[in-house]
Amino acid sequence: MGIGGLAPEPWLRAALAAFAEDVRGLGPVVDVGCGPGTVTAHLAGLGVDVSGVDLSSKMIGHAQRLHPELRFSVASATELDLEDGSLGGILGWWSLFNLPREVLPEVLASFARALVPGGQILIGTHVGDGDVARTEAYDGVPVQWTTHLWQPEQLDALVASAGLEPVAQLRLPASGQSRPQVLLSARCRLRP
Ligand SMILES: C[S@@+](CC[C@H](N)C(=O)[O-])C[C@H]1O[C@@H](n2cnc3c(N)ncnc32)[C@H](O)[C@@H]1O
Repeated sequence: MGIGGLAPEPWLRAALAAFAEDVRGLGPVVDVGCGPGTVTAHLAGLGVDVSGVDLSSKMIGHAQRLHPELRFSVASATELDLEDGSLGGILGWWSLFNLPREVLPEVLASFARALVPGGQILIGTHVGDGDVARTEAYDGVPVQWTTHLWQPEQLDALVASAGLEPVAQLRLPASGQSRPQVLLSARCRLRP
């Protein structure tokens, strides 16, 4: 699936609409691993106060060129230095699967700490088992990265360990040459 292009994906747009409705007004939202900013701009169009960060300065260059009205910066998901209780939401839209397996729990814990009560994360990723070395992507572009595949239940457990409460999970079946995908949202509990 060409994740990142939203036009052919009504269920993905529906998930973003629900996320936007839930977090709008709670505080700023960060699109972590925003790539060229397609989804960042989509959320901004839904009235969310959103900015994007990406490890790749080239991606951020594209995002700034394509969406000059939005804020983008270069940073790694592992070193965001997020202030506790400062964000309404955090998006990890097919951008966290490169993180080494042992690093993802720490990153999710840092996301959980950064949320305001009621704030949400929304994470989409490839479903499967094991780690896949990729040498080609985007219809023939040479790349060098490892995709760490996750089962939805494993992600549920990581999110629960981070102290977040599940909100929704959307599973998309394998389609054509693409693997199954999962999208899950979870929120910081409201203080009693
Ligand atoms: C498949 S692209 C998805 C981009 C965007 N979320 C979208 O759907 O259009 C994955 C993105 O994650 C970024 N990325 C990978 N590892 C990252 C990290 N540790 N911190 C921040 N971004 C990262 C890559 O540079 C790339 O732009």
